[in-house]
Amino acid sequence: MRTKILGTGSYLPEKVLTNFDLEKMVDTTDEWITKRSGIKERHIASEKEATSDLGIIAAERAIKNSGIDKNDIDMIIFGTITPDRLFPSTAIYVQKALGLVGIPAFDVSAACPGYIYAMTIADSMIKSGQAKCVLILGGETLSKIVNWEDRGSCVLFGDGVGASIMAKSNDESGIISLTIGGDGNMEKLLIQPAGGSRMPATKETLENNLHTIQMEGNEVYKNAVNALTNSANKAIEMAGVSIDDIKYFIPHQANIRIMKTTAKYIKIPVEKVYMNIDRVANTSAGSIPIAMDEMNRNGLLNKDDLILVASFGAGFVWGAGVIRW
Ligand code: UT7
Repeated sequence: MRTKILGTGSYLPEKVLTNFDLEKMVDTTDEWITKRSGIKERHIASEKEATSDLGIIAAERAIKNSGIDKNDIDMIIFGTITPDRLFPSTAIYVQKALGLVGIPAFDVSAACPGYIYAMTIADSMIKSGQAKCVLILGGETLSKIVNWEDRGSCVLFGDGVGASIMAKSNDESGIISLTIGGDGNMEKLLIQPAGGSRMPATKETLENNLHTIQMEGNEVYKNAVNALTNSANKAIEMAGVSIDDIKYFIPHQANIRIMKTTAKYIKIPVEKVYMNIDRVANTSAGSIPIAMDEMNRNGLLNKDDLILVASFGAGFVWGAGVIRW
């Protein structure tokens, strides 16, 4: 038995911040950002918008796209590292907004692969009979935790949430393989140091910008390519398919150079790699479900197409899978 994606949805906040806008904020240029990352613009949440607000719209769109009755949903899992609050969970706000009181709703903290982690849990829940129809979400309002004075990181991130409805498949379509993993030895390379129980918020942590993203870009880059390559290869092997059978590779949209190098290493033509980083930037857990929804709405995903997804992020953690559409 397989589980499948019945429908997709996504939401990007209205405000667009271009590289030219960033030139006025930090010592950077459109040319540097475009050349080093492939990003031209990103969407930024308003002061009033939290991650759940984006998620609720994405979820409503996924429900509509799937054609289900929203009351069929019996579990909600939200992959995010920018929750509305440390507690309660962001998923519980989505549950409340959708009027689905009573069903389990929880967050998964797995940085950029958060959506793949959520999908892995949903897949297991459906296969074990604990759930029948799961709403999974992945996405962020990273703009709220970016240090807007750090040109090495602030140019890379954007806001947005993607959502999918998952249920039992009644044919061969659905998830063929999923693999997730992590290596805690590299936790310091990409981290939001303060605000948790290790370093609670104080005047000093605020003054020293310790509630914002701290990143060693070069080190993250090298490990990203390795993690994406290894996890993608593993997902292909577990699925028992050939890389030539894959119609589209949807990698985490972190950097165009990371995506192209990974494509070279796993031996997939770059034309098969779906990229929207120029418009969306790095939305962490939103990357893959937002891209998938764009492809779905643009009619790129047809029945029986094999899709490879792969992601990596802070932790480090990674995840990959092969899906038959
Ligand atoms: O979801 C995972 C999240 N993170 C990532 O995926 C990040 C992975 N890393 C990367 O994407 C890249 O390492 C970056 C895009 C962050 C940086 O690209 P790079 O080619 O590794 O550049 P670099 O860090 O080696 O910096 C090269 C130069 C430095 O100047 P000097 O020391 O050579 O004079 C930087 O200070 O570029 C400078 N620089 C900038 N210049 C203009 C760094 N950021 C900027 C900037 N604008 N925004």
